Amino acid sequence: MTLERIFQTPIVARLGIKYPIFQAGMGFVAHAELAAAVSNAGGLGCIGSGSMSARELREQIHRCRDLTDRPFAVDILFAEVKADPKNATVVRYASNVQKLIDITFEEKIGVIVSGLGNPAGIIPAAHRDGVVVMSLCGNVKQARRLEASGVDVIIAQGHEAGGHTGRIGTMTLVPQIVDAVRVPVLAAGGLADGRGLVAAIALGAEGIWMGSRFVASVEAFAHANYKNKIVEIDEEGTTITRCHSGKPCRLIRNKFTDSWIGREAEIKPFPIQSVEYGFPLAEKARYDGEIEEGGMACGQSAGLIDSIKPAGQIVREVMAQAREAFESCFVARGDAAPSRAA
Ligand SMILES: Cc1cc2nc3c(=O)[nH]c(=O)nc-3n(C[C@H](O)[C@H](O)[C@H](O)COP(=O)(O)O)c2cc1C
Repeated sequence: MTLERIFQTPIVARLGIKYPIFQAGMGFVAHAELAAAVSNAGGLGCIGSGSMSARELREQIHRCRDLTDRPFAVDILFAEVKADPKNATVVRYASNVQKLIDITFEEKIGVIVSGLGNPAGIIPAAHRDGVVVMSLCGNVKQARRLEASGVDVIIAQGHEAGGHTGRIGTMTLVPQIVDAVRVPVLAAGGLADGRGLVAAIALGAEGIWMGSRFVASVEAFAHANYKNKIVEIDEEGTTITRCHSGKPCRLIRNKFTDSWIGREAEIKPFPIQSVEYGFPLAEKARYDGEIEEGGMACGQSAGLIDSIKPAGQIVREVMAQAREAFESCFVARGDAAPSRAA
């Protein structure tokens, strides 16, 4: 097999992209510029609609289409709401999610990603329209449930990840989900370079879904202070807290996250905590560059991120590192390296 064929996984061919690099649809951060830059470089870009109104999402989709003629995805938080369904905040939140779903269908986006919860309700319509539905999950039970609902691609996201995350590490989660389901699996959580891509493929994944690495990109919709903070911190610089949204979420450790230590009982259920604290404080970090009082999602891969780069360069470098990593494994074992020919 040629080296390039190793990276031409079935999902890459199915989506008509070039490389198995999927940019995570990050709320507040993944706007049209980032998604288009990744798609133009051969990966799959994704608009994170988590923080958007319906009007903003439609504008972002149009902007992305102005910037690229390549496919891109939209990520929506399909979270199950356990808070009082009659609460006004909950009603408004759920109604906005429905509008985001409607717009994504109206705009004929080919790939919809579910960030939280189960997108079962949209599967019949998605499949009727030829839309591929991907869903993040953090354990084998969820993966089986998502596959049974008709989800086309499972994104196995390990504990290391930035944003909402589960308890199981990526290294053990990915192969267990690969073994448990028949649909393609992408690996996520802690992956920020070509070695991570090679490891993910070795574990049976068909690609990597990368978030934190792309926050520290030129095109990410994030304040320079936030991007620089990711470059500055190491693998110990993040913490898991429910203070952002009411659900466990990995953020850069700062005064905001510390201020909730010992006050966990005051945290409100999702999405009320998000609306009252998570969203406004993420905006404080985003717009004002407030890195102590603001909320900044980021994963443990921060320790691998040493500079802010254009997103297209990140895609190309990850691919170059992945080819090198494969070749050095073969050479180290004294076997013939696979040819680079396509
Ligand atoms: C700033 C940020 C915002 C995020 N927002 C979302 C979101 O709105 N929807 C979603 O599905 N995942 C979100 N995530 C999680 C990512 O989709 C992805 O799974 C994660 O970043 C992968 O781990 P990594 O950060 O180690 O690459 C977010 C992650 C970050 C870092």
